[in-house]
Amino acid sequence: MNIVVLGPGAIGSLWALSLHNAGHSLSLWSRNGHHQSTLCLDTLSPVTLVNNDAEKLKDADLLLVTLKAPQVETAMQPLLEQIDPDCIVVLMHNGMGTADIVAELLPNNPLVLATTTHGAYRPEPNKVQHTGVGITQLGGHNEKGKQCQFLAEVFDHALSTAQWHNHIEQALWSKLAINCAINPLTAINQITNGELAADSYRSTLVSVVEEVAQVMNAEGIVTDAAKLEETVFNVIQATAKNHSSMQQDIVHKRPSEIDFITGYLLQRAQTHNIAVPHNTALFEQIKLIEQSWKSS
Ligand SMILES: NC(=O)c1ccc[n+]([C@@H]2O[C@H](COP(=O)([O-])OP(=O)(O)OC[C@H]3O[C@@H](n4cnc5c(N)ncnc54)[C@H](OP(=O)(O)O)[C@@H]3O)[C@@H](O)[C@H]2O)c1
Repeated sequence: MNIVVLGPGAIGSLWALSLHNAGHSLSLWSRNGHHQSTLCLDTLSPVTLVNNDAEKLKDADLLLVTLKAPQVETAMQPLLEQIDPDCIVVLMHNGMGTADIVAELLPNNPLVLATTTHGAYRPEPNKVQHTGVGITQLGGHNEKGKQCQFLAEVFDHALSTAQWHNHIEQALWSKLAINCAINPLTAINQITNGELAADSYRSTLVSVVEEVAQVMNAEGIVTDAAKLEETVFNVIQATAKNHSSMQQDIVHKRPSEIDFITGYLLQRAQTHNIAVPHNTALFEQIKLIEQSWKSS
């Protein structure tokens, strides 16, 4: 396939190189404006890929968007006229809320949503390390997107395991629940995921997850708060040494993905008239930290 990766950061470079190694014709679209990028995955030989080539974008069968959620709309706006209506658009990021924006920007394109638990780290702009093997789930957001099941095989062949999910919103909400629990608390307290296992965080974590479960049920996503809590505590244990992406964003004074994680939950809770005080408090604390950078 002709594939363009928009936002080739850590996770985008991992996928770009994996899809290139699987035999696809890969190019990148980044904000550095260079015509070529040389990327190196782990100890493999460096690969040079074309960057920001309008012809490649027009010819793309697949646009893989690996931007952070808050970057999606701004990055896609100037590209709309160059994206063919048959080009499949895959959004792969943490958080929710961009699908409706992109569906409005590109109403005729097949739209697929993806979530991955692979880990990638970019120690230098041209280097990417595959830090954790995970699972990628993909599923259609609109009718045309739902007909793209073959993509699971394309992604699985490049970087296993990838699976098609007929109700991708279910998988995205489960990931959102984990992110709502782990990300703000680790960012506010500047701790590793594992430190959340301390008793002092337990009641907040349980309340946060119970609120998310209530909103999920109102959204028609069948879930059970007790099971969701168990999943969150399992993830805390399994990723004990990791720093969450929000903890990293806050320590480096980069805008976090809070609007598309807890912020999305708050929006949906408001629609259903559900009170979510614990999540609201965490949202406000992250916003206060982000605002404090502007005034300093
Ligand atoms: N890294 C992981 O292990 C991992 C795992 C699972 C999920 N995720 C999720 O995947 C998403 C991406 O994460 P990441 O770690 O790959 O972040 P990242 O390294 O910051 O990648 C985002 C990339 O988008 C680029 N970008 C920003 N604005 C752009 C624009 N207007 N046009 C073109 N490119 C633009 C950034 O450019 P610059 O390089 O110039 O900043 C950066 O290279 C996040 O939602 C994250 O939560 C990450």
